[in-house]
Amino acid sequence: MGFETIELQTEGGIATITLNRPKALNALNLAMVRELGQAVHQVRDDPTVRVVVITGAGDKAFAAGADITEFKGMSPVDAWIFTQQMQRVYLEIERLPKPVVAAVNGYALGGGCELMMACDIVYASDRAKVGQPEINLGIIAGAGGTQRLSRLIGKQRAKELLMTGDMIGAQEAWNLGLLNKVVPADQLMPEVKRLAEKLVAKGAVALRAVKAAVEEGYDIDLERGIGNEGKLFALCFATEDKIEGVNAFLEKRPPNFKGR
Ligand code: CAA
Repeated sequence: MGFETIELQTEGGIATITLNRPKALNALNLAMVRELGQAVHQVRDDPTVRVVVITGAGDKAFAAGADITEFKGMSPVDAWIFTQQMQRVYLEIERLPKPVVAAVNGYALGGGCELMMACDIVYASDRAKVGQPEINLGIIAGAGGTQRLSRLIGKQRAKELLMTGDMIGAQEAWNLGLLNKVVPADQLMPEVKRLAEKLVAKGAVALRAVKAAVEEGYDIDLERGIGNEGKLFALCFATEDKIEGVNAFLEKRPPNFKGR
């Protein structure tokens, strides 16, 4: 499928989705949100894709948020439809049964920060800047920011970022628990590639089960969450990968997982 606002490349089991409006700091306009949703469906349905990487084109931004030029004259109903589209795509990323890695190469603001938070693992350049500046536009975060940020870093720290609209640097974002790793800018994509290759080598069913156990269990009570985990644990015992993994350990050799 040809895209205008994003790029999608697949190599060695790794699909890379690049938000591609660098002149507008990869701001997410309606077309980009729609195409991002299509790309997410494409990688979900492509059995050759084992891991997904999301990044931004250029060296300034992952995404500087929703495209503010589209807000002028936007009616409340249009705003509701827009935010629901973004929320749905981000939920689909969060629920995608494959690992999704964000490579945050610069500004991750507003809808960009919200996209980053919907990914499973976030690596960032030391030049990255993160924040929810919607308050400065007289609005609030609308693509999950008030919810995911408070769940990730706690209510008080989330409210400070959402109420001040302040941008924070990569180190501070890491200290808050928003980023898994901060690396020098020129090392970001090589580091992300190393991580993605490591994940490609794992059993795809077990990876899927990890994600399902964490995501499905996150907002429910511990007992039901671990109950669900137990069923997913048992499900792994039905896979060829489990036989291979256990045999490989006992035979002192690396496993060769097939994703079955
Ligand atoms: N929407 C549309 N265009 C944007 C944009 C955005 N979110 N962010 C940057 N741009 C555009 C700028 O207008 C500028 O375009 P022109 O060259 O045509 O003038 C271009 O990108 C480069 O940006 P700047 O010249 O502003 O670059 P800078 O380095 O001086 O500043 C910045 C960078 C601090 C990120 C600044 O651009 C900025 O504050 N951007 C807006 C960030 C923001 O408020 N994001 C939240 C959007 S609302 C949202 O996301 C709602 C939601 O939750 C869904």
